[in-house]
This record gives sequence, structure tokens and C-alpha cells, in this order.
Amino acid sequence: MSPIPKTAPFAEEEINLLNRVVGPASQVQRAWLAGFLAGLDASSLPAGTELLPAAAARPAEPITIVYASESGNCEKLANDLAKAARKNGLKPTLIDMADLDLAELTKAKRLVFIAATWGEGEPPARAIRAYGELMGEGAPRLDGVEFGVLALGDTAYAEFCAIGKKIDERLAALGGKRVVERVDCDLDFSQPASAWIGDALKVLTPPDANRGQGNGQVIAVDFGKPAAASNTDIVEAEISEHVNLNSSRSNKETIHIALAFEGGAPAYEPGDSLDLYAENDPAYVDELLKFAGLAGDDKLRAELIKSRDVTTLSLKTVETYAAQTGHHYVKALLADNQAKEWIAGRQLIDLIATFPIALTTDHLRAVTRPLAPRAYSIASSRREVGDEAHLLISAVRYETHGRARKGVASNYAAERLKRGGRVRVKLKPNKHFALPAGDRDIIMVGPGTGVAPFRAFVQERRATAATGRSWLFFGDCHFTHDFLYQLDWQDALKDGSLTRMDVAFSRDTPEKIYVQHKLWEQRRDLIEWLDDGAHFYVCGEAKNMAKDVRATLVRAYADVKALSPEAAEQAVASLERDKRYLQDTY
Ligand SMILES: Cc1cc2nc3c(=O)[nH]c(=O)nc-3n(C[C@H](O)[C@H](O)[C@H](O)COP(=O)(O)OP(=O)(O)OC[C@H]3O[C@@H](n4cnc5c(N)ncnc54)[C@H](O)[C@@H]3O)c2cc1C
Ligand SMILES: Cc1cc2nc3c(=O)[nH]c(=O)nc-3n(C[C@H](O)[C@H](O)[C@H](O)COP(=O)(O)O)c2cc1C
Repeated sequence: MSPIPKTAPFAEEEINLLNRVVGPASQVQRAWLAGFLAGLDASSLPAGTELLPAAAARPAEPITIVYASESGNCEKLANDLAKAARKNGLKPTLIDMADLDLAELTKAKRLVFIAATWGEGEPPARAIRAYGELMGEGAPRLDGVEFGVLALGDTAYAEFCAIGKKIDERLAALGGKRVVERVDCDLDFSQPASAWIGDALKVLTPPDANRGQGNGQVIAVDFGKPAAASNTDIVEAEISEHVNLNSSRSNKETIHIALAFEGGAPAYEPGDSLDLYAENDPAYVDELLKFAGLAGDDKLRAELIKSRDVTTLSLKTVETYAAQTGHHYVKALLADNQAKEWIAGRQLIDLIATFPIALTTDHLRAVTRPLAPRAYSIASSRREVGDEAHLLISAVRYETHGRARKGVASNYAAERLKRGGRVRVKLKPNKHFALPAGDRDIIMVGPGTGVAPFRAFVQERRATAATGRSWLFFGDCHFTHDFLYQLDWQDALKDGSLTRMDVAFSRDTPEKIYVQHKLWEQRRDLIEWLDDGAHFYVCGEAKNMAKDVRATLVRAYADVKALSPEAAEQAVASLERDKRYLQDTY
């Protein structure tokens, strides 16, 4: 018999472990353990706390935690919440919204959603189906379900935390009882998110759930720092290669960077990314300080270059600027509801230059948030490159409102990182964009820098002598100037680690040809590969490419299999549900 019931406030694997120890233990051993654990708790409890007799195997109270995540932040927070809930005597059920069956929500007693917003106010790709169902007419009533929502987003986007907000409204509209107020987190979510989790648990933990703790006391869990150095800590690497892969006649600059790690590369897998900790352009910071009337403050200059987001201009920035400085025109811009339109395509420097006023260092700190790292797909496999990791970074440059603009991290990488220099990075694992078993076929669609993770895939498959077929769709502007990693692909085709490659160079023909056109041309073979069980991967630009690729696949199913548009849509949806249609888009 297993003495620890499944209803105990532990994860299933923990219950199994406990049973392995407690199951075969003798009566004396169990009595010793019970006394020892009770003594351990008594010594750490505040004086005067009365310990209840050892709890009988009463079922732990349930809590359902749903996360809608794309790059893993919400998923990580959901796991943290589940851990803390267990410590408080609750029994959490953790659900990726990708796998959510709405009927499960009706059974929930306590419900927490942790949701990110992607695209321009859209749900994370994996959550689209369940999100649509939740918003749809067929969504079930949730009368009496106690809920709370934590929203993650980025104030730089007009639709800040839109998905968390909509889920919060929807749960209430379906009859749920909001017992924890929603908090909308910006990119520096760590503090507010852990505070929200603590508060939510206080409300959602019934007074007698954690009886072993006495007095229904909620255990504070510090998510800030892992106890020991982990694989996902920030590490320094040396730039061992820094090469522009575009020709000198291209109007693009896409840099291949090889990072060398002393003491071993983080244990990354194909499909993972690295967060790169960039610095701001000193020339931009100097201009900003000049407009702010703070030129010459070297300490502030160094701080702004290294650690503040000095480019983003959000509604929140404008509101803070107005509140801090009392600038009449900025206040009027807000009062007239024109600020949202005005900030489009502009940066902080435009605000300060257009509405100048004497600023203090504290004003500047208040209107800037911490500088967030930028993610870059890893373009190599450790099994081929050892203690290195390769990145492929396209320099973002454009002009708006008469000013030349440069993306912070991509230009730091392209213009200021040099061979022999050092950079700080952190591993960002992505288990949702991983290779299947080696005997499975893979289809990879990666135009532009979207091809980066597929270089890792192909290297991995070569290093592991995978037997499955692999097919790459790549596209960019010009064959002669923009064929990223051309030699690598030629070698891979020769040695068989890449079975097939189709390319689309959009500016080489009068009519623009993109990867989705190539998918359409090859639709018969494509559907045949998918029928044979191939996994389909899309990486790169989210706004147009990823949507067009999906729509093309739906049309391909309809055409090749003579399906109705609805049935073709279902065919792609079922690939998604089977986790054979995988995206990593940005
Ligand atoms: C999981 C993931 C993987 C990624 N992998 C890669 C990769 O392998 N390679 C790669 O190059 N990038 C990759 N990216 C994108 C990368 O993280 C950065 O977003 C990109 O490099 C821009 O960062 P930046 O700091 O240079 O620009 P920022 O300073 O962040 O500026 C970008 C912002 O500028 C504005 N902008 C950009 N272009 C225009 C325009 N034409 N008109 C008006 N406004 C504009 C937009 O508001 C945009 O959000 C990835 C992103 C994610 C989330
Ligand atoms: C391409 C892209 C689009 C985004 N769009 C939005 C948006 O429209 N609104 C918003 O508030 N946040 C937006 N974000 C920010 C994410 O919501 C934020 O990074 C969040 O922490 C991601 O959580 P996740 O890792 O769980 O997916 C976007 C981020 C990226 C990279």
C-alpha cells in the first residue's frame, strides 16, 4: 500500500519519491520521521504557535493554474506559483493553455491565469485555439469559480497586456468571482509578479489548507534568486567570430557571432535562445542628455548607457513625464487623447526634444525603465561546436519622423561588439521548439534570421546521425547578397543532413516571391511529408510571414486533399494540437 495519497500537497513525482521511502519503512521508522518533522517545524515556527496533531490524509484543496506563454516567462511563473501553492498545502493542476480543455475550468474551484500578450495584442501562438474558445459563444459558465489573473506584457506595445486584460474580463463575464485583482507587468516583471503570487496565495489558500504550518500561515516563497548557480544564470562569453553574412552591396547587415564560453557553454538544446544584455548607443545617450540639459553628468551617462531603456516611448512614459515635469503641452497631449497617436514611431528622445523642460537625473530615471535583454535564437548545436554558441543578428535600422533610428541590441551587436570582446548572455530554453526523434522528418520554414535555429537543427541531426529527412525553406531579398549561411546549406545537402532546400529571393524577380509561395508550389510533396508524420517548424517574422505560412498550409491541405476550407483548417489545427506545427516567431 502507498501511505502517501495522491491528494497530498506534493507533485506526483514527489509523492512517488516519498512513497519509495515511507512505504517500506517500519512502524518505528515512521514514528521517528513524524516526530522528527514535527520537531523541525516547531523549532522554526514563531513562539506561541500551536502545532496541530499530525494531519490525517485529508485531501489537499485544489488550485488550477493555466498559463498562456510563448517565450516561457508565464510558464516559469506558473511553475513558481504551483511550487508555492504546494508548500501552502494546496494541490495545483498546471495547464498549458495550448492543451486546455475548457470543461476543466468548470470543475475548478480556484483558478489562476498567467497570460502573456504577443504580436500586436494577440495571444501567444500556442494558446490561440483555447483563447478563441474562451472568448467564443460556446464557452462554459464559470459561476462561483474564484479566479485571479496575472498579465505579462511590454509597455512599448500599444496593446499593453491586452490578453491578460481580456481573459480577466471574460472570466468575470462567465460568472467567475474575481478574488484577486489583476496586475499588469512590464518586461521587468520579476518583482511585481512574485508579489502578486504571494498575494494571490494569501487569498486563495483556505485557512485550514496548510494545517501542518499551523494558523493557516502562508509560506513566503522567494523566486528572486536560485540557491545555487544554474544553467540559466547570466554568463560572460568572448566573441570569437564576428562576420557580416550579407555582401557589401546588400542594404542589410546580418551578423554571425560565435560566442566562446570559458568553463563550458550553457547546456543549450537546438531551438533554445540566448538573452543578450546589450548597451545603448553612447551617441544616442549623449544627444538625449543634451536635450535634457544634463550633458556632462558622467555618472548618469554611464548608467543610461548600461542599464536604462532610453529609447522606448510608451503611453506610460508620457504620463510619467507629464506628472514629473508638469509640462503643459504634454499634459494637453494626454488630455486630448492624442498621446497614443503621437508616440507611434517616436522614441523618448523625440519627447524630450519636442517638449523640452529642465530635467533632473531623477526625472530621467523615472521616465526610463530597466534595459531589457533581447532574445536571439541559437544557430548552432553543442554537439558540433562544443563550448560555443552561434547567433545570427540582423541590424535593425529605419527612419521615422525625420530621424534615423537604430535598434538597441542588434546595433550593439553589429557595430560595437568586436572579435575578442565580451558580452553577457543568459540561456532561454524553449522546450516547445525542440527536435523530434531522429527518425522523424522535419520541415523548416525560416526566412531571414528565422533560419538561425534551423542551422542548429541541421548540425544536431548531422552530429547524431539522424535518419529522418529534413527540408528547409529559406528566403531573403537577393540571392547574391543575402543568402545567409549559403555554404553551410550546400555542405549539409552534400552530406545528407539536409535532404532538400527551397529558396525564395523576393527582390530578384519583378514579382515578389516569398517562402509561402514556395510552400504552395511544393504543396503535394509537403502534404505527403506531413502525412508521413513530419514535424513542421516556422521561425522568424511574426506579423506577416508566420500568418501567411499558416494560411498557405491550410490552402495546401484544401487543394491537395480536396477538403473544404473548414476541414483544411482542422487539419492544420490538429497538427498544432499534436505539437507537429511549431512556431518561434517574433
Ligand atoms: C524568441 C526570439 C528569438 C529571436 N531571434 C532572433 C534572431 O535569431 N535574430 C534576430 O536578428 N532577431 C531575433 N529576435 C528579435 C530580437 O530579439 C530583437 O527584437 C531584434 O534584434 C530588435 O532588437 P533591437 O534591440 O535591435 O531593437 P529595439 O531597440 O528593440 O527596436 C525594435 C523596435 O523598433 C521599432 N521598429 C523596428 N523597425 C521599424 C520600422 N521599420 N518602422 C518603425 N518602427 C520600427 C519597433 O517598435 C520595434 O519593436 C528574436 C526575438 C525573439 C522573441
Ligand atoms: C514579438 C513580440 C510581440 C509582443 N507583443 C506584445 C503586445 O502586443 N503587448 C504586450 O503587452 N506585450 C507584448 N510583448 C511582450 C511579451 O508579452 C512579454 O515579453 C512577455 O513577458 C512574454 O511572456 P512569455 O515568455 O510567457 O510568452 C511582445 C513581445 C514580443 C517578443
